[in-house]
Amino acid sequence: MALPPQFLEELRSRLSVSEVVMKRMRLQRAGREFKAPCPFHNEKTPSFYVNDQKNFFHCFGCGAHGDQIGFVMRHDNLSFMEAVEHLAGEAGLQVPQASPQERQQYERQKSLYDLVERATKYYERELFSPGGRNALDYLRRRGLDEEGIARFRLGYAPQEGGPLRALLLEAGYSEADMVEVGLFKRAEPGRPIRNFFWNRVMFPVTDRRGQVVAFGGRILEGDGPKYINSAENPLFHKGNLLYGMSRARQAAADGQRLIVTEGYMDVISCVQAGFEGAVAPLGTAMTETQIQVLWKLAPEGQRNPILCFDGDNAGRRAAQRAVERVLPILVPDATVRIAFMPDKEDPDSLIRSGGPDAFTAILDRALSLEDFIWEMVRQGEDPKTADGRLRIETGINQMMEKVTDKSVQYSYRSVLREKLRAAIRASGGGFGGGFGGAGGDRGGGRPRRLQPGDVPVSRLWDSRFRSGTLRTEPRRRERYLVLTIVHHPELFQDVGETLAGAEFADGEMEALRQALVACLTTESALDAEALRRHLSGRGFSETLDSLLSADMPKFAQPGASFETAKSGWQEVWLSSEDGLLQRELRDAERRFAETFSEDDLARLRALQRELLILRGHADDLTERDG
Ligand code: UTP
Ligand code: MN
Repeated sequence: MALPPQFLEELRSRLSVSEVVMKRMRLQRAGREFKAPCPFHNEKTPSFYVNDQKNFFHCFGCGAHGDQIGFVMRHDNLSFMEAVEHLAGEAGLQVPQASPQERQQYERQKSLYDLVERATKYYERELFSPGGRNALDYLRRRGLDEEGIARFRLGYAPQEGGPLRALLLEAGYSEADMVEVGLFKRAEPGRPIRNFFWNRVMFPVTDRRGQVVAFGGRILEGDGPKYINSAENPLFHKGNLLYGMSRARQAAADGQRLIVTEGYMDVISCVQAGFEGAVAPLGTAMTETQIQVLWKLAPEGQRNPILCFDGDNAGRRAAQRAVERVLPILVPDATVRIAFMPDKEDPDSLIRSGGPDAFTAILDRALSLEDFIWEMVRQGEDPKTADGRLRIETGINQMMEKVTDKSVQYSYRSVLREKLRAAIRASGGGFGGGFGGAGGDRGGGRPRRLQPGDVPVSRLWDSRFRSGTLRTEPRRRERYLVLTIVHHPELFQDVGETLAGAEFADGEMEALRQALVACLTTESALDAEALRRHLSGRGFSETLDSLLSADMPKFAQPGASFETAKSGWQEVWLSSEDGLLQRELRDAERRFAETFSEDDLARLRALQRELLILRGHADDLTERDG
């Protein structure tokens, strides 16, 4: 009988953890917390802490952890309900009584559990009867001995449903009950009910407490689906359960890793081989709820289950879909890892052919979520080209938009951008690279995702501006950026913030950049001519003349359309490591302004440093940091 959450809330707010603990033992104040030698294990120096803000106690020695109710359960050795009643007494609260309907529903559920348990035992017995001979042989061929069979409570559902029906009737259950839990179906009104599972090896599915709530049945030979599974019923909600979860919870508490495989037999082989944290969804792809359930199975700090996928393309796509389902529900301190099986193997077959070590090797190579996303977005793209960089960054942004939790989004985005910067660096440094010159791998990748208003790269650049020249003379970039704005001051609307945050390496261009920012922020709606007059007035006529007479790519010429100018400008800007780092820095500033946390400050500082180093101001660092 579940208590209303509001009641538990009220109870917790009336009694602080420290109050509850102090009634039972001595506590010593330690800053905002309290500490004491742990009551749950033997120790001399205190490692037991109580934190009322966070509403928990925690022992760093033995790991004991919980809230008011948890403490009383352990300390006074009470059940949950007993502890609640105790605490309600201390708090002067009345424990809500279950309504008659609730009580009735509870009783009914209890009896349905019992029905399913009886059926489980029946199937287990049948496996060892003469009729179960084939099924037993089959399981033995798949490497299961009697101990294993007993451990997973495997069974056999015979051809005929009559005996099970009779047995359940005798135990007092109605046909309606048998239908309700999915063991039988009603053919037609007035006709006898028929067994749902027949001539199948039975895999009982248990809930979090280890009670059987459903079955998977595997065919032995002949036609028909390989597995059939119980339909949803009052005890069984497919989307909330994982095969093997009650054992996995224990294993995770003992420090084993959680592994998500595809099938019943995979879980069984894993567990037999010592990977006791193995679970599987029930014949469907993992749901969001199952992922959350999975996280809760593991202790805090270890919520990084490994999801196993086939090594082929279908497996990769399944992994992508799983990741896209994980992103919106990511929370701090919870993630997933992705492992790919060797070609044509599943964990069961791999363990049988290569032993536990072969599987361990695969698990050890599991990709972190950020590494997997990185591979996804950079696959088929070339970070040597501006185009490739843009698409990678767009890919990162698209993935990150799916992440709802802001702090998680921020940290993944930083890590991914760092990877992009590293890739740019590895491809030959800051700005430059081939700009789609000869040898760019356009072919293999995904098609470019054109956005509305996008101008194809080929229309921005003449061939003579591509490749080599840019690499050898990166400062040209600054000229393009400046000149494009000189021709199209209205661009400042879109890129002003970026331009204002930039710093150019070329002294002359840097001065012009500052003048541009100054003019365009103070005087709105300047047209190109007026802007040139302003700049000349500030002493830039010569600089402008030389810029205007130089050879420039299409987008930086006066005749370019606004859209072309904008695309060109953004491409030049986005493709530089400097640009990336600046966007990163701006994010970090925003974030720090929200949180004022030490971590975010440290991160901000690190980025500032990196930018200084990138811009060749590494000398300034010593002065600054003193
Ligand atoms: P697999 O076909 O990979 O199963 O399906 P498996 O566990 O490797 O099967 P074995 O090794 O041949 O016995 C993976 C899971 O998908 C579900 C089951 O839960 C199965 O364990 N499934 C598969 C179904 O529900 N129905 C099917 O017809 C097939
Ligand atoms: Mn298999």
